[in-house]
Amino acid sequence: ASELTARVCALAPVVPVLVIEDAASAADLARALVRGGLPALEVTLRTPAALEAIREMAGVEGGVVGAGTLLTERDVEAAKEAGASFGVSPGATDRLLDAAEANDLPLLAGTATASDVMRLLERGYTTAKFFPAEANGGAPALKALAAPLPQMRFCPTGGIGLGNARDYLSLPNTLCVGGSWVAPKDLVAAGDWDGIAALAAEAAALPR
Ligand code: 3PG
Repeated sequence: ASELTARVCALAPVVPVLVIEDAASAADLARALVRGGLPALEVTLRTPAALEAIREMAGVEGGVVGAGTLLTERDVEAAKEAGASFGVSPGATDRLLDAAEANDLPLLAGTATASDVMRLLERGYTTAKFFPAEANGGAPALKALAAPLPQMRFCPTGGIGLGNARDYLSLPNTLCVGGSWVAPKDLVAAGDWDGIAALAAEAAALPR
């Protein structure tokens, strides 16, 4: 499963973190992001529209749609049922990991400390989310984790934007970063898909 999340992270330097209010425009949003060069998309299960949005987006050509903010076994099942091809969680509990494994949903599970990382390594994971990245010490903290734990590779998320993404992407243990900045609420509400594709293209061009 870790291999699969690593493959998702390899698709582009940035995974858009999406909070979708209106499923009707979800496919257009996905097309804009994919067109800009960001095929891997995370739809957070934080709005009533999220599962329907995943269903709509899963049909967009070239996109790889995952479900974020997975907290419970029920979330895992609903994500899988909606067509999510991977999951993301802010943390990692045994119950959540068991559910992801039982449902064959590759999971990018959240870590913040060395113990979190060690627990995931014990379960065979070699890819994880680092969350909330900036509040947890940012790129210097992630760099420091690589000294004792170089086998874990990360997708840091939380507080990352165009200005600081490079700090993370230049680290040997960072595969990609997650962030919401590529799909600002006002552009989504206005249906400014060209504007969003332009933000995606800028993010897709980040070196790593
Ligand atoms: C989240 O889970 O909300 C992500 O960490 C996105 O964070 P951001 O809005 O700071 O990019």
